[in-house]
Amino acid sequence: MTEVIASPCATHSQSCCGDTVTLDIAEHACEVLQNAPVNAEYRHMIVAAPAGAALAQPGQFFHLACPPGAAGTSFLRRPMSVYGADPLRRTVEFLYKVQGTGTQGLATLLPGDTLDALGPLGHGFELPENTRHVLLLARGVGLATLAPLAAHAIAQGARVTALLSARSHALVMSAERLSATGASVHIVTDEDGSSDAARVEAQLEALHAETPFDFLSTCGSNRLLLLLQRLGQAWRVAGQTAIEQHMGCGIGSCYACVRPFREHAGSDRLTFRRVCWDGPVFDLQETTSW
Ligand SMILES: Cc1cc2nc3c(=O)[nH]c(=O)nc-3n(C[C@H](O)[C@H](O)[C@H](O)COP(=O)(O)OP(=O)(O)OC[C@H]3O[C@@H](n4cnc5c(N)ncnc54)[C@H](O)[C@@H]3O)c2cc1C
Ligand code: FES
Repeated sequence: MTEVIASPCATHSQSCCGDTVTLDIAEHACEVLQNAPVNAEYRHMIVAAPAGAALAQPGQFFHLACPPGAAGTSFLRRPMSVYGADPLRRTVEFLYKVQGTGTQGLATLLPGDTLDALGPLGHGFELPENTRHVLLLARGVGLATLAPLAAHAIAQGARVTALLSARSHALVMSAERLSATGASVHIVTDEDGSSDAARVEAQLEALHAETPFDFLSTCGSNRLLLLLQRLGQAWRVAGQTAIEQHMGCGIGSCYACVRPFREHAGSDRLTFRRVCWDGPVFDLQETTSW
């Protein structure tokens, strides 16, 4: 493994649970330990990573240089959330959907190959101290981003309820992984109609009535984002969402990832922020839908 400090942004201040830490952003040559399919669309990759990379926080991401694949070579790196990071074993995990040129290239990597990963990048989730009950509301690839938040919250003493939405049962991922961390897992799918917005809303209302949530998180669906914003307002519960956006540099320099956000919750005034540098995790109510 080699470690090279990236230019121009070698460090990134991250406020996590009240403490501000400065993380080194570096380009890591990581050995691939595993890159196995988990179903027809997704793969789970585990790489050996230097200590700095393995300290990545839930919600942060790496910008991956993808090798050439069947669809050709991608010039730009591809952003991928940290699905797991273990500083003791010095590993970082990714869960990714094989889609276009970049991810088809990633899918060709074999154990022993090298993955060039720039990171850890961005601001992750900031769980307030004394949080008691966290909701994870995830669909599709959004699960890869939210899953590590479960272990983090449980380690902080919070209870976690995860509602996972997928097109079909065959595409539901990480239910066992989340259960093993101690999260209470609920699955809804398009194939049996349980992922319908009205049914999900009723289910969330019932869960909140049983044990009120005091932190809401979501990723992977505009529809679920809008629903959670509405419920968060009604319940007066704060939260955060992780945003997916096409990226160029991934380190705040090119402004390819700028999106509009509300200046503050409830504001009609918009402000523009870089998803890679100011996020990708943002306040639930400040995020505008797309
Ligand atoms: C911060 C961040 C974290 C992410 N984490 C994950 C993850 O953990 N697992 C995962 O599977 N995917 C994740 N993504 C999305 C992933 O980066 C894209 O799927 C990937 O770049 C697609 O590259 P490609 O060359 O295979 O496909 P392309 O040929 O570039 O695109 C295939 C399809 O994906 C869409 N797409 C491409 N890039 C993005 C993007 N950045 N955001 C939204 N849609 C995109 C395209 O519009 C197109 O429809 C993340 C994106 C961001 C911004
Ligand atoms: S991708 Fe370049 S500024 Fe965000």
